[in-house]
Amino acid sequence: MSFAKTKETIDEGDTVVLYLGPQSMHTFEVTQKIVNKKGELVDNVFQTTYGALKVYSLIGKRYGSKVELSRGWAYVLQPTPELWTTTLPHRTQIIYTPDISLIIHLLELVPGSIVIETGTGSGSLSHSLIRTVRPRGHLYTFDFHEQRVQLATEEFTKHGLSNHVTVAHRDVCLEGFGEDLKHKADAVFLDLPHPWLVVEHAVNALKKSGGKLCSFSPCIEQVQQTCLKLEAAGFVDIRTQECLQRELNVHYKHCPKLEMNWSQSQKLTPDEIQKKNEEQERILTVSHSSSTPGHTGYITIATLPPNFARLVPT
Ligand SMILES: C[S@@+](CC[C@H](N)C(=O)[O-])C[C@H]1O[C@@H](n2cnc3c(N)ncnc32)[C@H](O)[C@@H]1O
Repeated sequence: MSFAKTKETIDEGDTVVLYLGPQSMHTFEVTQKIVNKKGELVDNVFQTTYGALKVYSLIGKRYGSKVELSRGWAYVLQPTPELWTTTLPHRTQIIYTPDISLIIHLLELVPGSIVIETGTGSGSLSHSLIRTVRPRGHLYTFDFHEQRVQLATEEFTKHGLSNHVTVAHRDVCLEGFGEDLKHKADAVFLDLPHPWLVVEHAVNALKKSGGKLCSFSPCIEQVQQTCLKLEAAGFVDIRTQECLQRELNVHYKHCPKLEMNWSQSQKLTPDEIQKKNEEQERILTVSHSSSTPGHTGYITIATLPPNFARLVPT
């Protein structure tokens, strides 16, 4: 239940994040016992590169505290959507936090928004959408893969989020979002191979007062097809962008000392000039990170105007 609200201490059943370092985090459920590969019920012990953690020893510990492993230590954290995205079990390709933040901003989501998402996939984006729209808003998320729907439903329940999300098993290209959602949504988000096949269904689901549609596609050909369909369906202000991160490192650097005119004015010998040339100074500088995360996907955003202002009748 640890996603539902900020908590002081860990209870049995909480999902927690074990933080060993920025590149080494794990997530698991706090239970006393687990079933091992032989089908036996045994004490829940989690293995890390710094040794074992008796998971049940976490019950009652404060979130954020340092916990002992058999060969070191780690911090135990309450999960956030960002930490969940970093550590979740991958069932599909997922959307990562930089793209998620842009998607939420472009969709203009706020607490109280009604938002439709398809496909659910591994639920990475879903957790951030739920946090943004709750407590009065709701996420309707669709996937045509039965097992993914089942696992996502179980996760939302374990995370204490089931009041804020409805997971449905459906091929949205063929069946749309259903009569119940007709003209109910403020925003529709698409992450599936053929987003252009869902555009008409999105028009039916968005409120008569209009709304936003956002589509995430790795390939530019998908973007082209989707944009043509969006325009034909009456969407306006259609824009596509890519979210590329460029990290900067602030650090000290040793550089040769620069003195432009000393050789003439000071009448130095060649040895002295060489010595001067070797003098270094420590300067504060900024450089780009050695690795830049590459392309993830193109983010297309479009606005459906209010019913009376639409150029194309729907
Ligand atoms: C890339 S994954 C979505 C990942 C998700 N955005 C996340 O961040 O975890 C795409 C999902 O779309 C689902 N999907 C593809 N076509 C679909 C369709 N026509 N109707 C419903 N779901 C579909 C797939 O089963 C898959 O789970």
